[in-house]
Amino acid sequence: MTQTRVEEQLNKALPEDAISIMEQINAAGYEAFVVGGCVRDVLLGKAPSDWDITTSAKPQEIKKIFRHTIDTGIQHGTVTVLKKHGEKYTGYEVTTYRIDGEYEDARHPKEVTFTGDLSKDLERRDFTINAMAYHPKSGLIDLFGGCEDLDASLIRCVGDPMERFGEDALRMMRAIRFAAQLDATIDPVTMEAIRVLAPTIAKVSAERIQTELVKLMMSDRPADFILFYQSGLSKYFLPEYEDAMVTEQDNPHHCYTVGEHMLHATMKLNLEALAREYQGEEFLKAKRYLRLTMLLHDIAKPRNKTIDEAGIGHFKGHPQDGKNMVRDILQRLKFDNETIHMVMGLTQYHDREILSEDKAMRRAIHQLGEQYFPLIFYVKEADVLAQSDYRRQEKLDFIKGEREIYQLVRQEAQCVNLKDLAVNGADLITAGMKPGKLLGEVLQNMLQEVLDDPKKNDKEYLLKKYCSKDI
Ligand code: CTP
Repeated sequence: MTQTRVEEQLNKALPEDAISIMEQINAAGYEAFVVGGCVRDVLLGKAPSDWDITTSAKPQEIKKIFRHTIDTGIQHGTVTVLKKHGEKYTGYEVTTYRIDGEYEDARHPKEVTFTGDLSKDLERRDFTINAMAYHPKSGLIDLFGGCEDLDASLIRCVGDPMERFGEDALRMMRAIRFAAQLDATIDPVTMEAIRVLAPTIAKVSAERIQTELVKLMMSDRPADFILFYQSGLSKYFLPEYEDAMVTEQDNPHHCYTVGEHMLHATMKLNLEALAREYQGEEFLKAKRYLRLTMLLHDIAKPRNKTIDEAGIGHFKGHPQDGKNMVRDILQRLKFDNETIHMVMGLTQYHDREILSEDKAMRRAIHQLGEQYFPLIFYVKEADVLAQSDYRRQEKLDFIKGEREIYQLVRQEAQCVNLKDLAVNGADLITAGMKPGKLLGEVLQNMLQEVLDDPKKNDKEYLLKKYCSKDI
C-alpha cells in the first residue's frame, strides 16, 4: 500500500473525537497520536473497536486539559478522556509515552518510566503491525516496517523477540492468535523465541490465557491451536492435549489422532447455517460454545482407550468422562458458568446414538436448555465430517433423523421444562401444599415423569397422583 493511500484511509476513518483530543493536547504544547490496534485495523480495512491515543503529556497534564476524565491506570500513564454525545459518554484511553521497566512476573512491569520520545514508546510494543502511530499532520509513523509486514501478512516482534516475550509472556499467545485472526504467518525468529520461552506462559493468569484462547477459537483458523501445541505453550494451560495429540484411534471410523481429529472438527462447523439460526450476540455465543466443544469433545479418549482382539480401538464412556474433564479444564481457565454448562452438555451428548429416541431427546433439551439445544446437531455433524469417510453418509442421515425427532418434539410443544408443566406451584398450594423445598421436589418429580411420557402432562392426572395423599 502506498503512503498516500494509507494516510487517506486513516484520515477517513479517524473519528472527530480522536481528532479533537489530539488537537487539544497539541494546543497545550504536547504531542499526541492514535496508536496500536486502531491503526492496524484501519489499514486492514476493519472498524477499530477503540481508539487509543499516545502522548508526550503526563497524566496530570492530561487531567488539566480535559474536563471529564477517569483515572484508569495513572501509575501506568493511562487516563480515560470522556467525550459527550447527547446523554452518552465515549471513552478514549490516553497514555503517556513510556518505557516499560523490567517485568516482575511476565505480567506487570515493576515500574514504567515516562519519556518524551515517541520512538521509545513504539519500541516497547509487541509486534511491528501494532507499533504504528498516526496524526493527520505528521502522517503515519512506522519505524519498524509494520505496514510492510501487514501487506506480507507477517507477525514479527519489534526488535528482539526474546526481550518482547520476556516483558510479557502472554505476547506469545497473542502472536499465534493474531496470525490466526489475520490469516498471517509468524516470522521464524519470533516463532523460535516462542518455543524457547514457552514455559514462562505458566506465570500468566488464567483469565488472560482464556481471552487469547477464545480469540483464537473465534478466528477463521481455530485449528491453529496446533501452534500452541507445537510451540510447547499448551502444555502449560491445556496439558490434556499432550496425550490427545499422540493417541491413535485405531478404528476405521477415524483417520486422525484424537487431538488432530478435535482440531479438524473445529473447522467443520456449519457456520452459514448457524448464522441463519442465531443472530447478533446469540450467534457469537453459539459459535463460542461450538468451537470450544469441538476443541474438547473427545478429550477423555486417551484415558478411555481399549483395544479389542481384532486390534480395533474403543473409547467406552468417553462422553461422560469428557464432560467431567471439560468442567475441570474450563473451571481452571476461569470460564463463566454458562459456558461451562453448555460445553459440558454438548460434550456429553456428542456421541452418535444417544438422541435416537424422543425420551432421551426431551431429557437432553431439558438439560441443555431450549435456546441452545440445537447446537448439538452442529457438533455431531462437525464430528462426523472430521472422521474418515467410512459410512459417512449413513452417519449424516442418522443425524438428520435425530433432527426430525427434535422437530416433532418442538411441533407437538412437548413439555421439556417446568414452565411447560401442566401443574405449577400455585396449583400445588391450592391443593393444600405449603410453599417450600418439598413443593419444588414434587414439581421436579412430575417433570421427570412427563419427560419420559408427554401424555402424562395432564393437570388432573398429575395432581391426583402426587397430591392425593396427606400433604
Ligand atoms: N500491547 C503490547 N503488548 C501486549 C498488549 C498490548 O505491546 N501484551 C500494545 C500493542 O501496541 C497493542 C496495544 O498495546 O496494539 C493495544 O493493546 P490491546 O488493546 O490489548 O490489543 P490490540 O492490539 O488493540 O488488539 P486486540 O484488541 O485484538 O487485542
